[in-house]
Amino acid sequence: MLQPDTAFLDLLKARYGGAVPAAGASMNAVLENLLSHRSVRAFRPDTLQEGVLETLVAAAQSAPTSSNMQSWSVVAVRDPDRKARLAELSARQGFIRQAPLFLAFLADTSRLDRLGQREGQALEGLQYLESFLVAAVDAALAAQNAVVAAESLGLGTVYVGGLRNRPEEVAAELGLPPGVMAVFGLAVGVPDGQVQTAIKPRLPQSLVLHHERYAVSADAEAAQVAAYDTALAGFSESQGMGAGHGWVRRMLTRVASGASLSGRDKMHGILQRLGFPLR
Ligand SMILES: Cc1cc2nc3c(=O)[nH]c(=O)nc-3n(C[C@H](O)[C@H](O)[C@H](O)COP(=O)(O)O)c2cc1C
Repeated sequence: MLQPDTAFLDLLKARYGGAVPAAGASMNAVLENLLSHRSVRAFRPDTLQEGVLETLVAAAQSAPTSSNMQSWSVVAVRDPDRKARLAELSARQGFIRQAPLFLAFLADTSRLDRLGQREGQALEGLQYLESFLVAAVDAALAAQNAVVAAESLGLGTVYVGGLRNRPEEVAAELGLPPGVMAVFGLAVGVPDGQVQTAIKPRLPQSLVLHHERYAVSADAEAAQVAAYDTALAGFSESQGMGAGHGWVRRMLTRVASGASLSGRDKMHGILQRLGFPLR
């Protein structure tokens, strides 16, 4: 087995806390970039250099895409007033205003729909839930490539799922045609060096990696989740969030009821009104 070198091991320790998986590799730039990821929520006011946006989108478009359908698009927002309105629509998350660039990633079946119209063919397949799923998956893969590219350039990013709190108002703000929905945002900018960020520990690999068939030992899972809860509480405290911010309580609150989805419990009807019949 390939032995992990020290630099690689250090990042694994940060990512997993105590439960370091038996990963073996020598460090390289890609692994270092991926394993060092942390979301950034404080940005310097600097505008991004010319060409950065296009570089990020080139990285995004380099992601695999289902059947090469490329059923995603992105709106780059730099206008302060528009960013402020989008922040307002996304649970008032202040970093959206602060970041010089806000990318709204779109599940977009409208381009294929227009292709069908030009070819005189109604593309009934676009009406199915599967087509929305394909578009949302494509958008996520593309966005994550943009994140990795941004981090490789020394930029910081944070996703904004809050953009789905009020999708119809977001669609109006961005001028989205039917068959296009903003699935999440991405704030991008130069990290504010005054605000500390750190690698957030994840669940132990043993909880997410199954071999051959899905298998859960209820006792082991409970013990490992409890240990992770403690580790995450320690992490949150070290980040100045105070005590008691573990994982368990937060997850229980996050998905306690439809109401805890911040308006997203109405997503089925919203998507239909945005032009995704979801058959
Ligand atoms: C699809 C998606 C939506 C997210 N939405 C938000 C958000 O609205 N606000 C926020 O502060 N962070 C958001 N995040 C960031 C997560 O909270 C973050 O990735 C997670 O806590 C792990 O932390 P890390 O990215 O620093 O490792 C989102 C992440 C993803 C993948």
